[in-house]
Amino acid sequence: MPKKAVTIKKAKKISPRFPDGFLWGAATSAYQVEGGVDAADWEVQNVLGRAGAAAEHYHKYEADFRIAKKLHQNAHRLSIEWSRIEPEEDVWNDDAIEHYYNVLTFLKKQGFTTLVTLHHFTNPTWVAHAGGWKNPKTITDFAGYAAKIAVSLGHLVDFWVTINEPSVYALLSHMQGIWPPFQKNFLGGYRVYMNMLKAHNKAYEIIKGYYPKTQVGLAQNIPFNDPADESGSSKLAARLSDYFSITRAFQGVRQDFIGLNYYFHNRVKMGLPKIVVSLPAQGELSDKGWEIYPQGIYEVLKKLKKYRKPIYITENGIADATDAKRAKFIMDHLKFVSRAIKAGVDVRGYFYWSLLDNYEWPVKKEENGFDMKFGLIEVDFQTQKRKVRKSAKIYAEICKSNSIET
Ligand code: BGC
Repeated sequence: MPKKAVTIKKAKKISPRFPDGFLWGAATSAYQVEGGVDAADWEVQNVLGRAGAAAEHYHKYEADFRIAKKLHQNAHRLSIEWSRIEPEEDVWNDDAIEHYYNVLTFLKKQGFTTLVTLHHFTNPTWVAHAGGWKNPKTITDFAGYAAKIAVSLGHLVDFWVTINEPSVYALLSHMQGIWPPFQKNFLGGYRVYMNMLKAHNKAYEIIKGYYPKTQVGLAQNIPFNDPADESGSSKLAARLSDYFSITRAFQGVRQDFIGLNYYFHNRVKMGLPKIVVSLPAQGELSDKGWEIYPQGIYEVLKKLKKYRKPIYITENGIADATDAKRAKFIMDHLKFVSRAIKAGVDVRGYFYWSLLDNYEWPVKKEENGFDMKFGLIEVDFQTQKRKVRKSAKIYAEICKSNSIET
């Protein structure tokens, strides 16, 4: 029998596609980009560098969002600055509300899905003077602010993040004493954390009361806690760390979705004085000195699967002044996100941190707040000129095609 000619078709390269309707965007926070925030604790009480004019996004938001649109982003995460809205207790600033009305209306008109954060590390000075988050009154004050925003702007908001990274705020501001109000008190910090979670639940109820179908959550900074070695004690250290960054962070917390900020790979073991200690960062590092470990996002997403909630990656990004590592950073993380989706994790969106170079919260006296370049868009802080980075264009291809090349 004559042999049949076998034609071998070259296998088509298939790029992993993300689910339909996947949100592609970038994130910012008010104090870090807007400029001119003068009634917040960070500006007034800070002994480290202040944001000052920051990236003048308060006035340049239209141009900035037009760039994001050109980069094929379909969603945007921003924060509202509480100290602008309520500069003094029970005094509401209508101009500030109108400003955010204009910002959100502009985004909606451009076709963006909006994700609004109510608290991103800064507090009005009157809140700080009254004891800040250590004082349970702040829970009620925050709820009042949340209600005001829900009533005036709720129709323009698709997703709400009530509070950004309460555990990081409690740790750096109240336990380690690095950020305002520079408190070093473990128990006080724990109380702050609990008060923030209570405030979240209150805000959740209020917002849902006005808009029952809207999506309300928190943004939690969840590192990949990885045992430093195979020993039982290191595994215990990882479990303890997960207890604080995941189990405790979710206990009794009402949320329609999980907001994940992923930055860190912590190799942990038991040790003194802190019980759990992290080994120094290894391998390839960002300008911040943070290890680049894309697989960690997959590991964290897998751990979050059991909560059976949609997950949005509300932040993931790199400080990279030369833009040499950013495109690969994004691509590699997204490959692992795509792998997690294949493994059944319900991830529905990705927000790169950050849209713009911005004021980066200093952790040491020698940091001026403007050296760390997280932006897809470069900002010259002398001239306030914008320049789209090469990596932003590569991210734009991903946003446009809803897929990544493998
Ligand atoms: C914060 C951002 C910050 C970024 C980089 C995140 O934890 O939410 O405000 O700029 O980390 O440090």
